[in-house]
Amino acid sequence: MSVKEILDSLEWGPAPESDAFAREWLDEHGPDFGMYIDGGWRHAASGEKFETRNPADNQLLGTISQAGEEEVNAAVAAARAALPEWSSTPGHVRARYLYAIARQVQKHHRLLAVLETLDNGKPIRETRDVDVPLVARHFYHHAGWAQLFDETFPSYGPVGVCGQVIPWNFPLLMLAWKIAPAIAAGNTVVLKPAEFTSISALAFAAICESVGLPSGVVNIVTGDGRTGALITEHEDIDKVAFTGSTEVGRVIRKATAGSGKALTLELGGKSPFIVFEDADIDSAVEGLVNAIWFNQGQVCCAGSRLLVQESVAEEFHEKLRARMGKLRVGNPMDKAVDMGAIVDEVQLKTISELCQLGCDEGATMWQPDTELPKGGWFFPPTLFTDVSPASTIVQEEIFGPVLVSLTFRSHEEAIALANNTRYGLAGSVWSQDLDTALEVARAIRAGTIWVNCTNQFDANSGFGGYRESGFGREGGREGMHAYIRPTGDHESTAAVATAGADAPAPAGGDGSGDIDRTAKMYIGGKQKRPDGGYSLDVPGGQVGRGNRKDIRDAVAAAIKAIAWAEMSAHSRAQVLYYIAENLEQRTEEFASIISASTGCSDDDAATEVADSVAEWFRWAAWADKFDGRVHETTMHGLVLALNEAIGVVGVICPDSRPLHGFTRLVAPLLAMGNTVVAIPSEAHPLAAAGIYQVLETSDLPGGVLNFVTGLRQEIVSTLAEHDGVDAIWSAAGDIAEVEVASAGNMKRVWNADTSAADEELLRAATQVKNIWLPHGV
Ligand code: NAI
Ligand code: MG
Repeated sequence: MSVKEILDSLEWGPAPESDAFAREWLDEHGPDFGMYIDGGWRHAASGEKFETRNPADNQLLGTISQAGEEEVNAAVAAARAALPEWSSTPGHVRARYLYAIARQVQKHHRLLAVLETLDNGKPIRETRDVDVPLVARHFYHHAGWAQLFDETFPSYGPVGVCGQVIPWNFPLLMLAWKIAPAIAAGNTVVLKPAEFTSISALAFAAICESVGLPSGVVNIVTGDGRTGALITEHEDIDKVAFTGSTEVGRVIRKATAGSGKALTLELGGKSPFIVFEDADIDSAVEGLVNAIWFNQGQVCCAGSRLLVQESVAEEFHEKLRARMGKLRVGNPMDKAVDMGAIVDEVQLKTISELCQLGCDEGATMWQPDTELPKGGWFFPPTLFTDVSPASTIVQEEIFGPVLVSLTFRSHEEAIALANNTRYGLAGSVWSQDLDTALEVARAIRAGTIWVNCTNQFDANSGFGGYRESGFGREGGREGMHAYIRPTGDHESTAAVATAGADAPAPAGGDGSGDIDRTAKMYIGGKQKRPDGGYSLDVPGGQVGRGNRKDIRDAVAAAIKAIAWAEMSAHSRAQVLYYIAENLEQRTEEFASIISASTGCSDDDAATEVADSVAEWFRWAAWADKFDGRVHETTMHGLVLALNEAIGVVGVICPDSRPLHGFTRLVAPLLAMGNTVVAIPSEAHPLAAAGIYQVLETSDLPGGVLNFVTGLRQEIVSTLAEHDGVDAIWSAAGDIAEVEVASAGNMKRVWNADTSAADEELLRAATQVKNIWLPHGV
């Protein structure tokens, strides 16, 4: 080929990275790989093992030990034994270990990148330029959190022994996202890599060994889902962190329900990639290539749903097809290759089947006539058009190089389509108009929004989902909170006059003599009789006996009222102040209800009302003060971390100090813009139920706060199972039941604690959305 011809075609020759280095490492450590437990290497006692192969050529790389009960027990015991010393090691010393790990990752950059490419099939360009640098960055960044731990998180400590299970799509990076914050905060770890890609985790274990990390702080056990379950269900694990499929996430949610284990889940997605007519179309096409063909589309936050404005759809599709035809699919060790191999034959089969299903459902499939390499698991870049919002391939995560495309006309339609998914991991918005970009970014219900960019990650920005994409954040200060727990030595701001709180209630209102009250339920801003028409005798009077229908009506009202979140924080605060004033004016009346209902002394009852008034003032004050942040990341631009309302929150109120308990939980949720369906104390419902009179005179929009009285056991499951409810705060009754029921739509469950620090309540009342805004000319 002449130089002129080369210049015309811009054809690249092969540019393979050498794997000699990595082969040597494999020979030295394999072919039978052990696992790393308590600072030493061992094989499974059962002798069970499985193969790991290079998906690009199906060559055997080695065999991996399948950890059973014995090894998982040993790893957990080692982590437990290491915990006291590691957690009391000064932050500065922990920081030095993380720093040393980061240095070693950099030093072995090439080895790690090549091992990862060999085992996973992703292009060397990605492992070299994205995965491994981000791993190093993650350990450097978290060395900083270890260093600053005591001053930044003064009333927090580590959670304890963490069981961490990760997927195969970013093996080493997911390991870093899990291990770095955990050990920075003083936790110890048992981590299991995915069975397709165990090798880089074992190489990482060797790094831990080489820097002299104390034995038992990090344990790496290998195996498949059975080993994963042994970890996540282990009695002596305090916290479970999982990244993987929503299906397995749901299994883990149910299995850990009621165990008291802390849990974070980072699950699937079907993230929208929205292109407006005023976008820079060429940049958007390039962005989309990255969004859906990076890592062969095996990315939880992949921009797998293109939404393009109708006026530019044809032009956009045309440019996209042309660009797809130029994508090079080939040997992932070739530095000039864009797309490597699919991780395994099983995954390739899933992708093919979903594509077939798409065709069967009437969609149009387009693939460039790219030649695929033989002998490995490859799939071409694929575009589906003529799909409807309800098509299976539009709703299901394909986890492969497959894009579906829909069009829209207006901004409203774009937002509606974007949110028409059960997931909420990420989204990408393309428009040169700042109003459009920001308005749409704020309206998408997802944890990360990229404006005019995509797949930006940084150790100092939290990453994680809304809705069925899971809960918890990884990265930055947000992510640290997944690995710390309040030590309880904060100065409690919750009023704590507990005298009389748990005093037995007088039966049938005996204690009150002349007071006999009937309180209705409050739904959609109106007093409601219970749907079933039944009442319950409670101390001090009667309340409605709510049923499932009442709960559903209350949730429907709360959903309708979500515009509350769009009011300014100042306006919400005004309403809360107003409630405080109106409640204060009726102190005597509420005090008499409380004493009649709980049997406490008049003094205690008056104190409880005063404390409740103080709570309304307190959360009104907080409404505009729980600011988000602007993160410093490696991107040139701004990363805005917004504390957003979660949505509709169900609150199961405590029995002790019923009016104050109700207020302490409901008020912060309202302050942050959530709408609420509360179940007041079953034992003493009258105190809280009487509040509707105050609400009615306080300008609270109908539906923002609803409550249904009755027998907890008859109504809690309806609330906890309801797909329209986004989170549950449970302060009474059986938390296990609530956690199991929550798995349907992966709602967040908080074991609500009225004595927790304000900041804990605010954090539980919000979810962080990170908006990435690159800029530059
Ligand atoms: P998976 O969710 O089964 O595997 C992820 C991890 O969980 C692996 O380490 C696995 O060994 C472990 N695991 C499996 N069953 C478990 C159990 N019962 N208890 C504890 N741990 C368990 O994902 P898989 O099978 O590899 O892929 C299937 C689909 O999941 C993909 O097609 C994709 O749609 C989705 N997926 C999504 C990921 C994401 O990051 N959002 C990552 C990986 C897969
Ligand atoms: Mg492999």
